[in-house]
Amino acid sequence: MNYSNDDAWLKRFPELEILIPSETLQARVRELGCQIAQDYAANPPLLVGVLKGSLVFLADLMRSIPLPVSYDFVAISSYGAETQSTGQVRLIKDLDSPIHKRHVLVVEDIYDTGLTLSYLLGQLRQREPASLKVCTLLSKPERHQVEVDIAYCGFTIPDRFVVGYGLDYAERYRNLPFIAVLNG
Ligand code: IMP
Repeated sequence: MNYSNDDAWLKRFPELEILIPSETLQARVRELGCQIAQDYAANPPLLVGVLKGSLVFLADLMRSIPLPVSYDFVAISSYGAETQSTGQVRLIKDLDSPIHKRHVLVVEDIYDTGLTLSYLLGQLRQREPASLKVCTLLSKPERHQVEVDIAYCGFTIPDRFVVGYGLDYAERYRNLPFIAVLNG
């Protein structure tokens, strides 16, 4: 079986419906990387990934940015095994290094309600970075509760619970190379 083919994965995961195929994802991530490389040519950014969901996106994105970038991670408590936000947001892993006077680009998997991003941006802003912007792979406009300024967005999607490419349901599906809707 050739698992570079999305359809081959669906035979193993019949409960999924592909929303964004892997080729479309990869092409868009490369575009975002090119745009970021142009915008930050004079000021290579520190990429701040939000664990765990942004890991796959961050890994691909940084390899499309031909600049001397570095990266770091934060972890923020979120849904756990549920598909609905509890509204409770908490920093459970902080950055390893200070960001004062650095150009920081937060890399997030999805802007859903926006509670996570707005909390994180508030925390990071207090540390006075030289600049602070957000790159999100996905955005669900129908779910936004808090307005967050997004500099780079991969795809706008409908209000469906999605998995794959880093996004999980109860820690499953993060390794899928595409974004899929979980039926049932
Ligand atoms: P927020 O509601 O924008 O604060 O999103 C918080 C976190 O919930 C995101 O960073 C994701 O990790 C997770 N999340 C939101 N929507 C989905 C989804 O459709 N699938 C999987 N995880 C999601």
